[in-house]
Formats: sequence, C-alpha cells, structure tokens
Amino acid sequence: MTTPAMPMSNAIQAIVFDAYGTLYDVHSIAETGERFFPGRGQALSQLWRTKQLEYTWLRSLMERYEDFSVVTRDSLDYTCAALKIDCSTGQAAALMDAYRHLKPFPEVLAALENLAGRPLAILSNGAPEMLNALAANSGLQRHFAAVLSVDSVGIFKPVPRVYQLAVDRLKVAKENIAFISSNGWDAAGGAAFGFRSYWVNRAGMPVERLPGKPVAVIRDLSELPALIV
Ligand code: LAC
Repeated sequence: MTTPAMPMSNAIQAIVFDAYGTLYDVHSIAETGERFFPGRGQALSQLWRTKQLEYTWLRSLMERYEDFSVVTRDSLDYTCAALKIDCSTGQAAALMDAYRHLKPFPEVLAALENLAGRPLAILSNGAPEMLNALAANSGLQRHFAAVLSVDSVGIFKPVPRVYQLAVDRLKVAKENIAFISSNGWDAAGGAAFGFRSYWVNRAGMPVERLPGKPVAVIRDLSELPALIV
C-alpha cells in the first residue's frame, strides 16, 4: 500500500494570524494622536482605521495597488482633513512611525507561547517593512515561522489569492490551516477561501452578512489554544 503524499486529516497543521486588530491594537495609536491633538486622539484613530481599510478595498477594485504604507499615509491625510486637524509633516511622520510600534493585545504573548509546536505565521495587508518592524519592535518575531505580506501578490484581502500565499509558503493544505482574525470580513474571507477560520470578536460586533462562516467565535486569543486540537 502506498502512503498518500498529503495525509487526509482534519488536524490543524499551521496557525495563521491577521496582524492589525488581531495581534496588535491599532487603536494604541490614539495615545500619540491625543498627545498631538488633545481631545481628538480617539476620533483620529477610529476614522484613520476605517479609511485605511476602505482604501484597501477600493484600490483592489480599481486595480490600483499601492502598498499599505501608502494607503495608511493617504488615509491619515484624509482623516486630518475630515476632522479639520492641522497635522504637521513631523506629526504625520510620528503617527506613521507609531504604526511600527503598535502594542500587542495583553493576552497575545501567552497565547503564542501556548500554541507553540505548530508553525505560526502572520498574513497581513501590511507592507513587508511595516510588518517586519512591528514584529521586531514588539518582540514577537521569534514566534513566527513566516511573516507574509499581500505585497507579493499586489492586491489586498479578502482576495482569495492573498490567502493562498499561506498555503504556498507553509506547504499546508488550506483545510489544515487555522486562520485567526478579529476583522469579521477577514474571518469571512478566510473561511470562504477554505481555511478553518476563527473570528476574534473583540468588539462584540454582529456577524458579517458575507460568504464564509468561521468555525468558532472567540472574545480574545486566550480562548484559542483550547480550541486548536
Ligand atoms: C491586516 C488587516 C486586515 O493585518 O488588519 O491584514
């Protein structure tokens, strides 16, 4: 009897994380915003993130990809104009730099330690330079077998060929990959692609009315190790 090349198993063989909002708190940036523009930090952070994601989707539809640092800078520019914030070049540079120093959520380190044993990876919209800086600055880099950026395919999530990057790089079938995202639309995108998708519903939001159903919904990453068997 011959052994099949790819074992037909339900076991999870690799765990792939979204970065922004899932491992790292994008709203930790509000502190820098608040320091520069007192009373406006939260509003700046919220609208900046909203526009940043919109621009990823719109640029993908327009077939006009620019990397995530450009999208992030453009969405900051829009946000300051919309909120009538007079942001100097130096303040904009400091806010962009804060994106390279985002705080991981408090439970992330322990969760990654508890999940060690299978390859762990990041799969993110972030530009390679932004992601590598973030992983290094947060001290989490050593936990990841790969830090994968959409940049190598030149389009943003939730296009299926972005998720395929993890399959190709990790050499694990998609049904054996656990994909973890706090962004409901990204958890849906990963599930629609064929990952076993886990939605970290940090904000207690309703489920997205999109194709692709996560296998589980959790409040934060501390719940994950018990679910990955
Ligand atoms: C990312 C965005 C979707 O890291 O949060 O890809």
